Amino acid sequence: MALAPGSPMRPIPRVPGLDSSLAFLEDPYRFIGRHCRELRSEVVEARLMLRPTLCFTGPRAAELFYNESLFQRGGAAPEPLRATLFGKGGVQGLDGARHRRRKALFMRALAPEQVAALVRQVAHEWQHELGRWAQQETVPLYTALHPLLARAVCHWAGVPLPQSQLALRTEELVSLFDQSVKPPLRHLRARVARAALESWLAHLLAEARAGRVELPEGSAAEQVALHRDEDGNVLRPRIAAVELLNLLRPTVAVSVFIVQAAHALHVHPECREPLSDSLLGGDMRWAQAFVQEVRRWYPFFPAVAARVRHDFEWQGCHFPRGQLALLDLYGTNHDPRSWDEPQAFRPQRFLTRKPGAYDLVPQGGAEPHAHHRCPGEGVTIALMMLSLDWLLHRMRYEVPAQDLELDMGRLPALPREGLVIGAVQAVP
Ligand code: HEM
Repeated sequence: MALAPGSPMRPIPRVPGLDSSLAFLEDPYRFIGRHCRELRSEVVEARLMLRPTLCFTGPRAAELFYNESLFQRGGAAPEPLRATLFGKGGVQGLDGARHRRRKALFMRALAPEQVAALVRQVAHEWQHELGRWAQQETVPLYTALHPLLARAVCHWAGVPLPQSQLALRTEELVSLFDQSVKPPLRHLRARVARAALESWLAHLLAEARAGRVELPEGSAAEQVALHRDEDGNVLRPRIAAVELLNLLRPTVAVSVFIVQAAHALHVHPECREPLSDSLLGGDMRWAQAFVQEVRRWYPFFPAVAARVRHDFEWQGCHFPRGQLALLDLYGTNHDPRSWDEPQAFRPQRFLTRKPGAYDLVPQGGAEPHAHHRCPGEGVTIALMMLSLDWLLHRMRYEVPAQDLELDMGRLPALPREGLVIGAVQAVP
């Protein structure tokens, strides 16, 4: 990591301007990549929220970013994100042994047999909802998926969710990830939603520990309730609630990738036949390639944040301890050093190559047990596969004329009208 003694240090190229927060929010997915290209560097410094912030892009930078002797997560995520998307005191902000122990909870809760159970529950709910969709003239797919996924994941996790609360809890869960940093109203709503959800779940977990509520044996809720950190203590109810939400919220957020997959099916009709053959024929390679290409090509999370743990040097630049750093996920997924024709949507690319740990990073890089990489990739991929099967084989629908362009200024980016479908029918 160090330069040869006496080598001159290269200044980190700077994004001009007093503060780039607005420019970042206007184009969150392309901001880092564009400036790195313009300044011909894998790292640039920009002022974001008035703080100098290192902005890294590309596979080499991703590998560096996941080196935990150089970067830490504690104190990295901005408060508005912790107050909405992540919650405070959860796994995202832990480091070292504390992180690995807490992460093991997620890896157990999301083991393959648990993923299979969640997929079965989502299939059950999809069947149920399809009857209702068939009675509607049009169905906005994105919002229609939310209660379906919310009900499925709560049932799977062992969290009681009476029908009378479904709409409210769904809306609260969605507001944590959909435009949750958009000022002022969406952000305020997300803060209020998080407070309500945490109270609800903290109460449930406290009641379960007191023996007044029985959680299904082996359920995710029970695992969270019983989890002990390295000090031997169970999690405080509020933190346990944050971790349970770390399972519920992102499962509902898979709706984003499902809509993006449906969008890809519509705008790339040539993919339908090989995809359908793959799903029906049992050789899942093409279907997997399609799902990977959706995860690579479509924007979801723009970046992840960390802090420089101690001074170090890389690429001739000096990085001072404590500085905030972002890793560009979208730009790394489109980096020409890793991908031929990165802007082309081409599932076939994944038939001949396996994604590496630092080039396909929609859900983070490195590996999930020891690093912060998402533990929910198995769930995400399995639910995308299931949804493609339903969209292709178990229902018929039309896509009425609408604006299908992705709104790249939205977080997460979606087709402008959320992908409306019509004339829905169940395939007998
Ligand atoms: C909807 C699609 C998903 C996307 C785009 C996504 C993306 C991400 C990203 C970018 C990270 C941060 C990686 C890092 O900090 O280095 C992450 C972490 C995490 N994700 Fe996901 N995720 C998704 C689905 C899921 C699912 C389905 C679950 C659980 C059911 C889940 C649970 C988590 C948890 C608990 C973490 C924190 C891990 C840690 O800090 O060690 N995610 N995800």
